[in-house]
Amino acid sequence: RAPEPATLVIFGVTGDLAKRKLLPAVFGLWQDGLLGSAFNIVGVGRQEMTDDQFKDFAIEALKSSKETDAIQPGSLEKFRDLLYYEFGDFGGDEVYDLVGKELDRAEEAHGGRKNALFYLSTPPSLFEPISAGLGRLGLADESQGWRRIVIEKPFGRDLASARELNAAIHRVWDESQVYRIDHYLGKETVQNLMAIRFGNAIFEPLWNRGYVDHVQITAAEDLGLEGRAGYYEEAGVVRDMLQNHLMQLFTLTAMEAPAAFDADAIRDEKVKVLRAVKPIPPERVPEVAVLGQYGPGTLYGESVPGYREEPGVKPGSTTPTYVAVKLEVDNWRWQGVPFFLRTGKRLPKKVTEIAVVFKRPPLGMFPGGLERNVLAFRIQPDEGVSLKFSSKSPGQEMVLREVVMDFRYDAFGAELESPYSRLLLDAMLGDATLFPREDEVDRAWQLVSGLLQVADAPATGKNAPNYPNYPAGTWGPDAADALIGPDRRWRRL
Ligand code: BG6
Repeated sequence: RAPEPATLVIFGVTGDLAKRKLLPAVFGLWQDGLLGSAFNIVGVGRQEMTDDQFKDFAIEALKSSKETDAIQPGSLEKFRDLLYYEFGDFGGDEVYDLVGKELDRAEEAHGGRKNALFYLSTPPSLFEPISAGLGRLGLADESQGWRRIVIEKPFGRDLASARELNAAIHRVWDESQVYRIDHYLGKETVQNLMAIRFGNAIFEPLWNRGYVDHVQITAAEDLGLEGRAGYYEEAGVVRDMLQNHLMQLFTLTAMEAPAAFDADAIRDEKVKVLRAVKPIPPERVPEVAVLGQYGPGTLYGESVPGYREEPGVKPGSTTPTYVAVKLEVDNWRWQGVPFFLRTGKRLPKKVTEIAVVFKRPPLGMFPGGLERNVLAFRIQPDEGVSLKFSSKSPGQEMVLREVVMDFRYDAFGAELESPYSRLLLDAMLGDATLFPREDEVDRAWQLVSGLLQVADAPATGKNAPNYPNYPAGTWGPDAADALIGPDRRWRRL
């Protein structure tokens, strides 16, 4: 499968994301010959630059990014030839006119077609003006080739603004032209969740309330703010991680088998399971969710500052950096099986995992406690899948011990691709399977609305959050243990 000849137009090409992730991903795909016979890139920015300056900039970005694949001799020079640059004010018409001319210029080399993928790697405040500008100049029109638009999260900052954004996008684009990026869906191991669930006969029969006690989804980060206070102070953990990445992991774990492995069949199932999740109005938040913010602490033996001491953070900020939530799914498969999701910054290590924890055996035949079997998908790092179960330990006595059967991705002997390269290629191919659809995003916002009301509430009165409430380098506030307990505990990762 190779995409048709096309132009990739990257708005915000001088930004951090384009430099660190996108350009390396495109370069890797191109170098592996995956982008088809004719392909070029138009970088668009507000900054004035010539084509040559942009070429230098892009080559420099590729050389300095850790994500760039091994560079084959001569390939940077050839890649350089594919790059063009346009600049202007995103609120006017001129810059879109120039982009249109770039598509005209590529037409002949592209076999008479003017296919284009517009990638908005910009601050969210520019999504609407750029989408509208492309629309005004007729660039969303598909009569001379396919036209698609890619937008990065955050898709809005709450339900109302997400709806406004979707409405603004839809004034110009049909939903089938819109590709919303959630880079977790591009992770190899996230895709493997579907492969393992629906490509094997042994898991699905157990994947329900009859056998599963609960599910734990963890996305722990050791990083702090990384100089992103401006963004993070506005976002907080619920918008940054829960509404998107964790919800995606949840839906893929909990959804029913799709009728086919295609974009709409899969996304229909994802929406269905989101609809079955019990709403969390603000009054229910203390019972089913825990918010937290890190204070000063120790990580990998070094002292690290608390959130409020990070550069750019307001002194008394109540932005949460940790959230744990219990989701209850009101459907036949999952009634009574809680899903516990947690994510936070400055936790002891970077690890993302989905653990399906099974019920205890019904009868204790052997001495010792009866343990719950666990099927764990390690999303990152040490990507793999493990099954924990009890086994007799060697000796005269009938004593059981927990053992682990482990599959590791490195068994394939291949490097895992960056999620961006997979998603970019899919968008070029017109495969929307790994991109959240409008109704999915809407549902996810609905679900976190109550939590956001609590998180965003002004820090006054007796309900003011008592932050910080976990030291950096620990596994989050104590209240998270109470949330999952008393008969269950978070996995030690
Ligand atoms: C991003 C968030 O979407 O995901 C970051 O904005 C977070 O705050 C990152 O660090 C985590 O992604 P990954 O792939 O490193 O787990």
